[in-house]
Amino acid sequence: TLPVIVAVDGPAGSGKSSVSKAVARRLGYGFLDTGAAYRALAWLALEREIDTDDPDAVTSLLDEFDYSIGTDPDGYAVVVAGNDVTDAIREPRVASVVSAIARVPEVRSHLVALFRTVAADVDSPGIVVEGRDITTVVAPDAPVRILLTADEAVRMARRSAELSDHAAETVGAHLAARDRADARVVDFLNAADGVTTLDSTHLNFDETVDAVIAVIEETP
Ligand code: C5P
Repeated sequence: TLPVIVAVDGPAGSGKSSVSKAVARRLGYGFLDTGAAYRALAWLALEREIDTDDPDAVTSLLDEFDYSIGTDPDGYAVVVAGNDVTDAIREPRVASVVSAIARVPEVRSHLVALFRTVAADVDSPGIVVEGRDITTVVAPDAPVRILLTADEAVRMARRSAELSDHAAETVGAHLAARDRADARVVDFLNAADGVTTLDSTHLNFDETVDAVIAVIEETP
């Protein structure tokens, strides 16, 4: 039997990554962070010094995009062209070009196919897949589809909790700009038909995890 897919979408700073990981751990499921793949391709573009605003140049990178990602929620490595980029893909320089990479249609179709293969091949009873277009494009037939949201101010605050005030302001501005750019390509701000919206504005982390598990358990 195929693994059960739990599809989770949401904006930057919604906590979808850490929440999805915790849900996967509790259920003994695998976990797939799809944003990491877009980030890895962005990392490769910077490494090769290609013009990230040139769709043809970005597309040509796919030929050498030898990418692998683990699905263990307790620790997975992101490897591209033989380099462990698990930490490097979190750098601001990567975040600042990733939206340009992610709007190239050839990139999206290539990665969507990859995500479907990874999800189908996981050797656990299920997998939590998180991103922007999982509920609508990658796995529209998944039995569980959730849009995790939170008010923008709360998302910014969560993301910047560990930073200085100045750094926090910068992070907030960058997150908001990235969401605006991304939302022009995939609508992850409004739930598609049949997708459960889960607003975590007034929930703490554990409550959010419980709420996701409740949605899964309520699914026939
Ligand atoms: O989730 P994360 O912030 O790591 O995603 C990084 C970027 O990857 C997003 O800003 C977006 O441009 C892109 N992305 C996407 N579709 C997904 C996941 C991420 O376009 N399913």
